[in-house]
Amino acid sequence: MAYGVARQQAIFLAGVAGRKPRVPVDAGRLEARARKVMSAEAFAYVAGGAGGEATVRANRADWDDWRIVPRMLRDVSRRDTSVELFGRRHASPFLLAPVGVLELCHRGADTAVARAAASEGVGMVLSNQASHPMERVAGALGDAPKWFQLYWSTNDDLVESLVARAQRCGCEAIVVTLDTTLLGWRPRDLDLGSLPFLTGKGIAQYTSDPVFRALLDEAAEEQAPAPRPTPAAISALVQIARAYPEPFLRALRSGHARAAVQRFVRIYSRPSLTWEDLARLREMTSLPVVLKGILHPDDARRAVEVGVDGVLVSNHGGRQVDGAQSTVRALPGVVEAVDGRVPVLMDSGVRGGADVFKALALGATATLVGRPYAYGLAIAGQQGVRDVLRNLAADVDLTFGLAGCRSVEEVRATELVPA
Ligand code: FNR
Ligand code: LAC
Repeated sequence: MAYGVARQQAIFLAGVAGRKPRVPVDAGRLEARARKVMSAEAFAYVAGGAGGEATVRANRADWDDWRIVPRMLRDVSRRDTSVELFGRRHASPFLLAPVGVLELCHRGADTAVARAAASEGVGMVLSNQASHPMERVAGALGDAPKWFQLYWSTNDDLVESLVARAQRCGCEAIVVTLDTTLLGWRPRDLDLGSLPFLTGKGIAQYTSDPVFRALLDEAAEEQAPAPRPTPAAISALVQIARAYPEPFLRALRSGHARAAVQRFVRIYSRPSLTWEDLARLREMTSLPVVLKGILHPDDARRAVEVGVDGVLVSNHGGRQVDGAQSTVRALPGVVEAVDGRVPVLMDSGVRGGADVFKALALGATATLVGRPYAYGLAIAGQQGVRDVLRNLAADVDLTFGLAGCRSVEEVRATELVPA
């Protein structure tokens, strides 16, 4: 399938007719365009990273460590960019990374992303911090591959309920994110005094969960005092009540909406998590378990030893530890430690076909992409996400062919050279 060529032609032919892409192809221009249509708070949350954002920059810059040496005369007229993961074919070697609070980008949020993913046959990892309940998003994904990303709550019954729901709505793997048991120190959000969860955004997996909702009734009496009624506090309360899945006035009067936010803050994540806890997840589900946030080879080795089904090399897009190693530099050590025993996925800084190619050549099984699709969503909703996915798929396809590779297997057998 000459997918890349078809996409190029579609864009250039539209150009002849005077139409330029609404969703910029270039990653930098894509971000800049999104910034124009997003609120300051929304953009800060999506674009921002921890501290001085050295890791955000390194995730991009360190791809330059490596160069591709293209091979010639190899008949690349037919190319297959698909990969297999947990018994499923994915059309391209990338999936959508779990990105929380997508309502900050567009009201279509996770559901719009899922429709775009379904139309392109791209797999999606549903976020624990989604704006829409997983059942709805899974429905919008139809037959496309879907995985669920879990934040390990302080409440095990809630963990069990989330995992069971994920399995019931057709998710095919559980991705446990390990690098965010505490939220990173993010100056952009701090300077705006803005955290979306506190106005009820990004907590739909919780407010749609029977275990979580039962906790709210229990907690009604121990509510913190209402904040001083400044205009901003009243506006926040209205937003919280709107976000809660009950009629607005009932959500306001029952106190459920405000209790949900307060309870979420206390229950969201468990910094005490250790390797021993993983055994419990195994008892909860028969689905493959992937650990997200692995950077150290020893952690990767241990992950395989305790029997997980995959590791995801990630530094959370530079949002957690400023100065953390870039994922492209961490990847080879993890690949060596895992030694082919389970798939090694990677994300953080994947923006184009060359990045995907290099990740595969360094031994990744597949990649994930985060911010770019959120920007596409902000600019043009479902179509914006679709365009981002089409452009990335096209770039991957052309890079494969031009480098002399017809398949992911051939890319993985390719040696990169140091720059
Ligand atoms: C994230 N990421 C994330 N990861 C996760 O496991 N659960 C989540 O809810 C979120 N939420 C989230 C929100 C936003 C706005 C961003 C930008 C990222 C991290 C995400 O899955 C992925 O690791 C990074 O986004 C990958 O880096 P790039 O592609 O954004 O550079
Ligand atoms: C973040 C959390 C939601 O990165 O993963 O903001």
